[in-house]
Amino acid sequence: MRPLSTKIAAIAPSATIEITDQARKMQAAGIDVISLSIGEPDFQTPAHITEACINALRRGETHYAPGKGIPELISAIAEKIAQENGIPCSPDQVVVGCGAKNSIYETCEAVLSTGDEAIILDPSWVSYEPCIQIAGGIPVHHPLDPGNFQVNDTLLEKITKKTRMIIVNSPSNPSGAILSRESLQLVADICQDHDIIALSDEIYEKLVYGKRHYSLASFPGMEDRTITINGFSKAYAMTGWRLGYAVSSKEIINYINRVQQHTISHPTTFSMYGGIAALKGPQQCIEDMRAEFERRRSFVLRRMDELGLSYAPADGAFYAYVQVNGNDKEVASRWLKEAHVAVTHGSAFNHPGWIRISYAASMERLKEALDRISSVL
Ligand SMILES: Cc1ncc(COP(=O)(O)O)c(C=O)c1O
Repeated sequence: MRPLSTKIAAIAPSATIEITDQARKMQAAGIDVISLSIGEPDFQTPAHITEACINALRRGETHYAPGKGIPELISAIAEKIAQENGIPCSPDQVVVGCGAKNSIYETCEAVLSTGDEAIILDPSWVSYEPCIQIAGGIPVHHPLDPGNFQVNDTLLEKITKKTRMIIVNSPSNPSGAILSRESLQLVADICQDHDIIALSDEIYEKLVYGKRHYSLASFPGMEDRTITINGFSKAYAMTGWRLGYAVSSKEIINYINRVQQHTISHPTTFSMYGGIAALKGPQQCIEDMRAEFERRRSFVLRRMDELGLSYAPADGAFYAYVQVNGNDKEVASRWLKEAHVAVTHGSAFNHPGWIRISYAASMERLKEALDRISSVL
């Protein structure tokens, strides 16, 4: 048989999914592995959201829906984006996808032509590079300032005639850093000076600790050249619902929708009813989960201080991103084999020498995990 797609052959499998699978296998073999490698809240989806979905199912909302998403959900998203993010937004500037990941992939397909370059700021979430590659683009990695995980003007050195897109992710997975107003202004200036489109992944916007989150599209001149990506997975503990969205100019949204029409059609209809309940219902659940993450964050960072490990500014998301001595893959593998704690090595984020510890686990498990790690350090 002739070889399968060379494009896909060049794409590495997701390191985070591989590590989690390895931890699951050990668990299935009876080993008490504590998984701190996973990027999902350990809370249940709030009950009123689940109820809304069950009611939708009972009403028979089990058929095709409009391609960009059901109108009530689209209006709720447009309202949220305008009010909370300061981005003028009408309903025809929104397309709802199957999770932020799907919206990011569709954006890459819609924006990039074959051979276009897309800049990724490292350390970076594992799926940006593959999404760009599958869309036929060329990923160009650029390291954030190692001292503070911010953007500085060395970014200009990566701009070429082929640069079409820059991806920013704040709060960041894996580092937890939040891009400052100055960093985002620098990105905005570069995008406007060089006619570049920005993808701003704001999936962790609700999980911030003492810092302010800014939306790139709210910067003057950026509204029409930014695709804001967000979703329900992290803020509302809805990872399995597969619900996310893209917001941008009507022209870009229509292109994204063209990809969507011929691939997923639209997200699952009854899942979208959960999305409406999430946005329109009480928002206290977000603060309750954020406050619990903040409590765990303080505990984990205190333990890191005691262990003498330095870490990136953990201002957002639910990760402690820690610098380690030696090869990060070997360190992560040793922690898994000897301490039975699964974490993610920084090389997975194009950033060797670091380890990502997710604190989306109960305090009890976090305490146990950190005791085990300190015993093998
Ligand atoms: C930075 C970042 N963007 C996007 C996603 C995808 O989120 P969703 O579950 O909405 O597809 C994740 C999930 O881990 C993430 O960490």
